Amino acid sequence: MAPFTERPTVVLAVSGSIAAYKAVMVARLLVKAGVRVRPIMTEAAKRFLGPLTLAGICGEPAASEMFVAAGGEPHVELAESADVFAVVPATADVIAGLAQGRADDLVRATALCARGPVLLAPAMHPRMWSHPATRANVALLEARGVELVGPDDGEVASGDFGIGRMAEPEAIAEAILARCGGEAERDLEGVRMVVTAGPTVEDLDPARYLSNRSSGKMGFAVAARAAARGAEVVLVAGPVALDTPPGVTRIDVRSALDMKVALWEALGPEDLDRADVLVMTAAVADYRAAAPSEAKLKRQELGSKTQISLVANPDLLAEVGAAREGDRPLLVGFALETVEPDALVAAGRVKLEKKGVDVVVANRAADAFDKDDNRVTIVTEDTAEVLDRAPKTVIADRLLDRVAAMLGASS
Ligand code: CTP
Repeated sequence: MAPFTERPTVVLAVSGSIAAYKAVMVARLLVKAGVRVRPIMTEAAKRFLGPLTLAGICGEPAASEMFVAAGGEPHVELAESADVFAVVPATADVIAGLAQGRADDLVRATALCARGPVLLAPAMHPRMWSHPATRANVALLEARGVELVGPDDGEVASGDFGIGRMAEPEAIAEAILARCGGEAERDLEGVRMVVTAGPTVEDLDPARYLSNRSSGKMGFAVAARAAARGAEVVLVAGPVALDTPPGVTRIDVRSALDMKVALWEALGPEDLDRADVLVMTAAVADYRAAAPSEAKLKRQELGSKTQISLVANPDLLAEVGAAREGDRPLLVGFALETVEPDALVAAGRVKLEKKGVDVVVANRAADAFDKDDNRVTIVTEDTAEVLDRAPKTVIADRLLDRVAAMLGASS
């Protein structure tokens, strides 16, 4: 299946909360990920955030008028165009309006007319969030299929603490991107998939560690899309600041050795019979401290020049590749390289061979880290598919297309 080959459109509705400034960051993350963002605002939102700020980031006017001189029905046109409709932040008042099905401004009218996923990122004082009226409104909206990101537990604008603080922009953007594929065809129904994601952290002492720049976004995108397409997904995640995608079972780990234990448990330690597919996106640290110190290492004792003794971690993917007897689980590795783009296929094939895997997604460090999009080449023994720069959710879907085809061909 091809969930979206064209640029997805998100209508980003901003309502009147101090958290509105964070909607700008959400818009920016979505735009960077290759999404068309059409901002709309309530009148109250304009007291917190200038429409020009949103328009500048999105390259589209920030509309708030229901009735325009040129005629037409902006709420219908906006709703028609939206692959995802998101309200960021969603105030208690907007939530109440949506629960009642009101259409008294552009935001509420567009929400009522939306045909795809509707996502809310609530932001309000904890007492407003816990009020029975809000609880009932949220329950009603959730029962109708509206999805919520957050709110988080923490400090709110008034300085009070509790649940009501808007989720972080990264988490909101990630949740929106995960739904940009639209209604997925459930072509992975019955497929059991293990995905690893994020970095591993190798402690040197109680305060210091070795790690890498992996954000976990690629693996979380694969897990989210696989679950949306019907797979049963276990996500083994190193330390990352990402929300668990809906329908995914998550196991958090810290070091490469922890990941090894969780990975084998998920795959079936006896005969690898618990999973049909392993997608290994984790940036497993290749080395760990030979002898992590239980006490904090002291500068006076180490002196002005010191050395840390490291030992190699096991290559988790290669170990599974070597232990596998038949063609299950299907093995997908990632290859992070610093070569020129035209050398990626060759580098991918080297890792395909070396690790005994079926698919290698080759990418370059400069394209991948800390980004919501990437440029990758999907390499198998006899194919190489070069993808244009795309959001990680789109790359996840292309990879899963390939996985689905390979599972189909060998079943
Ligand atoms: N990998 C692994 N265990 C390791 C290192 C890597 O399972 N100790 C997996 C990664 O999850 C990825 C693939 O192997 O799917 C390739 O990782 P990469 O860092 O590109 O390659 P390395 O094997 O570390 O090789 P090099 O750093 O020499 O390029």
